[in-house]
Amino acid sequence: MSSVFPVSGAGFSLPKVDRIPRSAVPGNAYERDARIASAAPRIPWADFYRELVWKQGEHVALIGPTGSGKTSLLISLLSLRSYIAVVATKPRDSTMDYLISHGYDRFEKWESVSPQRSPRRVIWPNARDIDSEEKQQEAFREMYRAIYREGGWCLAIDEGFTVADTLGLKREMRQIWTQGRSLGITQVVATQRPRWVPTEMYDQSTHLFFWQNSDNRMLDVIGDINGRDSRQVKEIVANLDRFQVLYVNTRSGKMCRTTPPPPGFDTTGR
Ligand SMILES: Nc1ncnc2c1ncn2[C@@H]1O[C@H](COP(=O)(O)OP(=O)(O)OP(=O)(O)O)[C@@H](O)[C@H]1O
Ligand SMILES: [Mg+2]
Repeated sequence: MSSVFPVSGAGFSLPKVDRIPRSAVPGNAYERDARIASAAPRIPWADFYRELVWKQGEHVALIGPTGSGKTSLLISLLSLRSYIAVVATKPRDSTMDYLISHGYDRFEKWESVSPQRSPRRVIWPNARDIDSEEKQQEAFREMYRAIYREGGWCLAIDEGFTVADTLGLKREMRQIWTQGRSLGITQVVATQRPRWVPTEMYDQSTHLFFWQNSDNRMLDVIGDINGRDSRQVKEIVANLDRFQVLYVNTRSGKMCRTTPPPPGFDTTGR
């Protein structure tokens, strides 16, 4: 029986086809994983958390779609700080209730109580009335003024868009992002809308946490941070698992992927 395949050595040989090196094949799964693994290694949360060096005055940005785990991570990060003011904007919010039942003081507006007497606070102006927005705006503006004067605080904002846009406090937020480091003020901001985010949030934050996102325009924003290989950052963010984050440290330039544990409390905001 004759083979349809020519037999080498029988007077002719097959043209030699070199094996294509993996690195030359764009999008090759192995190669892509290897590149991503070396650029942003997977690290167990416990190791990541232990090794995280977060100095006072270094800002944190948390960017992910709804339900990705921003609030949960934000609250767990706060345990690393000593003087904390949490901004509460919703009429009802189970996360804020949780904080208040776990040692945070509730204030309707900023009070000039010494940080030693009240180191952890939820600033929660009444948001139940039709004209609440104006009162909230004034209360938070006053809070920003006081924090700017006092220095040393960690200001946590779970709904970045609401505070910046709805309440019109973008200028105050920018002020802390750009001046906070020298005043020892840390700003932690979470948002679902990376397209909206003022550039200062990326440029001035030292610790960036991104959750999975496949919106191209959002990925373009993300990809541009810090002059990194934007294709790679986009690729990593687009392929994250549920609850997994890409962490970028803009001080050291290091990136890694890690998955925070589920929170021990309800974060659904109601
Ligand atoms: N790392 C995690 N592992 C497992 N479950 C988690 C994790 N993080 C959060 N969750 C759960 O996922 C749900 C959403 O989490 P969370 O409220 O923190 O998300 P979010 O990004 O703040 O959402 P939203 O944008 O709607 O405020 C919650 O039920 C929470 O308990
Ligand atoms: Mg949330």
